Amino acid sequence: MSDALLSVRNLTTAFATESGRTIAVDDVSFDVRAGEAVGLIGESGSGKSVAALSILGLLPTPPARVLAGSAVFEGRDLLQMPAKELRRIRGKRIGMIFQEPMTSLNPVFPIGEQIAESLRLHERIGNEAARKRAIALLDRVGIPSASRRLDDYPHQLSGGMRQRVMIAIALACDPKLLIADEPTTALDVTVQAQLLDLLNDLRRETGMAMLLITHNMGVIAEFADRVVVMYSGRVAEEAPIETLFDAPRHPYTQGLLGATPTLAQTEARLRTIPGSLPDPAAPPPGCRFAPRCSFADAECSAARPAEISLAVGHRAACRRTDATKNWQAA
Ligand SMILES: Nc1ncnc2c1ncn2[C@@H]1O[C@H](COP(=O)(O)OP(=O)(O)O)[C@@H](O)[C@H]1O
Ligand SMILES: [Mg+2]
Repeated sequence: MSDALLSVRNLTTAFATESGRTIAVDDVSFDVRAGEAVGLIGESGSGKSVAALSILGLLPTPPARVLAGSAVFEGRDLLQMPAKELRRIRGKRIGMIFQEPMTSLNPVFPIGEQIAESLRLHERIGNEAARKRAIALLDRVGIPSASRRLDDYPHQLSGGMRQRVMIAIALACDPKLLIADEPTTALDVTVQAQLLDLLNDLRRETGMAMLLITHNMGVIAEFADRVVVMYSGRVAEEAPIETLFDAPRHPYTQGLLGATPTLAQTEARLRTIPGSLPDPAAPPPGCRFAPRCSFADAECSAARPAEISLAVGHRAACRRTDATKNWQAA
């Protein structure tokens, strides 16, 4: 625990809505160690983005508010840090990539300018040196003829190329941690695979840690060392990648893994769990997965399940882990 690069504890984030307060992230804890790739997975709406944005101080407050918890990065709690200091860490010590590069890239500036800008924001660097570094970065993320593309505008690039530019920007200041929120979701399967390969290569080369957020088990399979499964704002299970696929113990994880994961098949598989996420404004009492769970008994619906430690690095918030022991991959 103490060797964690990022240590999130009891993170709780709420939104003020017309119908009252919605807890989008409820008592979430996990670590990312130096150099490690951690996957954060869960259905759309389970609170993954809100968790990441809370850690990065990027949620609009109001309506959002972090009610409790800590997010210690390199020994300091990001949640207690003055906004100005957090801005210095974001983009420098922690890089970020989001789902839709078109909304993160500025349409009116050439891409080379935008990379140079992120360099200048955090480093003393002259124009010529910034331009050279921008070319090297574009080259590194696999953009062909980088020196000619520097003056291109975002709309002149394909979705996959734009996401490569976002990765170049995120890497510009050599971050220790990269937080990537659905970085490949908007792209077709082939391009997704290429980008995941790129991220894996970059991780090996730079030794940076990654927190990869996705709703896609195939992406997790290609990428993560360790996985945190979220359901309805809470952590359902955490496990090393092999354990997650071979011996998951939370019925929700088991449901997500209904078949052998591949990048192409996951969308269909995620729909195999009957029912849908609870209404975040009025979650069921007790275990939030209980209404969809074939193992649930009366007590599951009565009280929030404690987290059970199953092995080193393997935990599940489930009362019925005895009953879920005999799971077999389909
Ligand atoms: N701006 C907002 N206002 C109110 N509630 C929000 C807002 N953004 C997110 N939420 C709530 O947080 C929940 C989790 O959202 P999110 O973290 O984006 O899910 P995920 O990234 O896992 O798909 C949503 O279901 C919603 O209830
Ligand atoms: Mg999201």
